[in-house]
Amino acid sequence: MPFKTIIEPFRIKAVEPIRHTTRAEREAALQAAGYNLFLLKAEDVLIDLLTDSGTGAMSSAQWAGVMQGDESYAGARSFYRFEAAVQEITHLKHVIPTHQGRAAERILFGSLLKPDDIVPNNTHFDTTRANVEYRHAQALDIPIAEARRPQELHPFKGNIDLKVLAQILTEQREHIPLVMITVTNNSGGGQPVSMANIRAASEICRSHGVPLFLDACRFAENAWFIKMREEGYADATPMAIAQEMFSYVDGCTMSAKKDGMANIGGFLALNDDDLAQRCKNMLILTEGFPTYGGLAGYDLEAIAVGLHEALDEDYLRYRIRSVAYLGEILTREGIPMVQPPGGHAIYLDAKSMLAHIPPGEFPAWALSLALYLEGGIRSVEIGSVMFGLQPDGSEIPATNELVRLAFPRRVYTQSHVDYVAEVLIHVNNRRDRIRGVRMVESPPVLRHFTARFEPGEDGLIVG
Ligand code: F0G
Repeated sequence: MPFKTIIEPFRIKAVEPIRHTTRAEREAALQAAGYNLFLLKAEDVLIDLLTDSGTGAMSSAQWAGVMQGDESYAGARSFYRFEAAVQEITHLKHVIPTHQGRAAERILFGSLLKPDDIVPNNTHFDTTRANVEYRHAQALDIPIAEARRPQELHPFKGNIDLKVLAQILTEQREHIPLVMITVTNNSGGGQPVSMANIRAASEICRSHGVPLFLDACRFAENAWFIKMREEGYADATPMAIAQEMFSYVDGCTMSAKKDGMANIGGFLALNDDDLAQRCKNMLILTEGFPTYGGLAGYDLEAIAVGLHEALDEDYLRYRIRSVAYLGEILTREGIPMVQPPGGHAIYLDAKSMLAHIPPGEFPAWALSLALYLEGGIRSVEIGSVMFGLQPDGSEIPATNELVRLAFPRRVYTQSHVDYVAEVLIHVNNRRDRIRGVRMVESPPVLRHFTARFEPGEDGLIVG
């Protein structure tokens, strides 16, 4: 092709208006929400980059699938379509639908973990960590050292530390019922994991007789990075790469709200017959019969179609490019962020940007509030509010103070991204005037969803 411009590989069939607000309106909305962006009304947000989870636009083929949903309680045709779509990609024997990713986690961990067990993972996402800790087990993050240094470049910064993995399996084998690898590594900056790393981790786990599971939420984006960056994969299709990734594991948990391109849904897939039976028993108790698992037949259809669309090359090229495009503008402007840009999101490095705000005053939280106040953009803190509170009630500042700007799939166009860049540059120019916040109310687990905050006397942004 002689042309360089990478376009959105779709045209728009239905539109949803978004609404500008005034700064005064946003100030009032923040106050009413206890300075917690999760507690805002979505209609008060202009560009919503809170999450890429369940917020994507479905295709016309998915909506057509919705109309074909078979709502039979047991043995629905839609389940078999869904199962076939999952098995084509994963080749895993048992496919158990769940209403979303964390239900798959709860069922898996509930069937497998005992108190004092350890689950090593490159980095647990918040709900995964919480579900491990809920079983009184330890969620152990062992990413490679580069992952802890936001501005350092590495093509596969999501890799699990193989040396530490081998060591912990040698020393603590009896406490480790499974190992997980999260692709892409969401809490670590949306960074990919290389095929070589998955393969080597699989060999280590097999030599100790421990199953390896993928947290596969963003498996298609991970496959694209392997195609772009790992030797030997340039000519492979994303489908073939995904199939190889899954060939090294014994199971996976999946939120179909990400690379399933659906608004709701997930699954647990695994090879072990006995464990699958225990999981299905738990599923019936809390989610539903094993051929729907808490989903409608039409959801299963939408996911079956979506899993394929997520592996489309034109889609993945546009998807990864649109995040990189914002990353390039910010890099040019000297705005500190996790490098290189992730697959589904940009992660601003608030520790560098707001070095004058101590961890106890939550710099990344303050930055996310400033982005909303100035430009109506909603992002999410991945820092000490999300991860600072320990299971024993003590407080340890998170390694990194990040603000994630997650891109919903197929929702925003390049002009939306240009607007976001403009707001970020504007806020960065005023960074010295941004102030920290105080937490005034907080629940004991997953506090970032509902905690309430107050700015200091001078407000969020001075002057
Ligand atoms: N694992 C990872 C890596 C995730 O990013 C998420 C969700 C889950 C598991 C849980 O899936 O939401 O379907 O229950 N992440 C969303 C996010 C919420 O904003 O990153 P779920």
